[in-house]
Amino acid sequence: MARRILIAGNWKMNGLQSDGLALASALATHMRGTSDPAFEMLVCPPFTLISKVVDAVAGSGIQVGGQDCHAAEKGAHTGDTSAWMLKDLGCTYAIVGHSERRTDHGENDATVKAKAEAALAAGLRAIVCIGETLEERDAGKTLDVNRTQLHGSLPAGATAENTVIAYEPVWAIGTGRTATPEQAQEVHAMIRSELVGKLGQGVADAMRVLYGGSMNPKNAKELLAQQDIDGGLIGGASLKADDFWAVAQSCP
Ligand code: PGA
Repeated sequence: MARRILIAGNWKMNGLQSDGLALASALATHMRGTSDPAFEMLVCPPFTLISKVVDAVAGSGIQVGGQDCHAAEKGAHTGDTSAWMLKDLGCTYAIVGHSERRTDHGENDATVKAKAEAALAAGLRAIVCIGETLEERDAGKTLDVNRTQLHGSLPAGATAENTVIAYEPVWAIGTGRTATPEQAQEVHAMIRSELVGKLGQGVADAMRVLYGGSMNPKNAKELLAQQDIDGGLIGGASLKADDFWAVAQSCP
């Protein structure tokens, strides 16, 4: 089954209003000039920029997502943002379980699963991130760690339509050290086969599995050419419109 490539930008905690607006506008201009793109494009700005970015990309086909959401709909959670609030701003996606959230905020698989379920309940698509550390890779635990995170973080009610998996080896994030296409494909193939067992062949064949970790215009083509890599979750290279656009142009 053909899976539509998803090119997703994770801006992390970057950009003041003028930067975010300029980046979003430049991408929207690229997209508006492209008929029938071979990919779906998503940007996930910091919370402060979401509203402005939604306006800037309106009508371009670019989607907007949050970088995180709380598991609850509302309530006494100072500083947090609910999936329903993201939806209300015009978001269609939420990233959950990014390794920086897992590290900085002590999120574990159960937290991530609850957040993903909140995203689905709010009508968003969830991008569920998993990935091993360098220590775990060196200890030969890569597949086990990712398998455990996948099963622990996958939301109940996951379908190919509402859920995307992102494999992001922690050692490759922001380091300039990318997984080789073979290293990435090995983990992606394992993820797909686990999804078969959990959700059935049809859903597993249709669910997108993104790679993230120092993806850039130089390495994107080879990574995206892998059988089970269905797009990218891109940090650093998503902060420059030309680089992010070049990654999108690398789609097979
Ligand atoms: P990077 O970040 O592309 O800067 O490595 C990817 C991510 O953390 O999603």
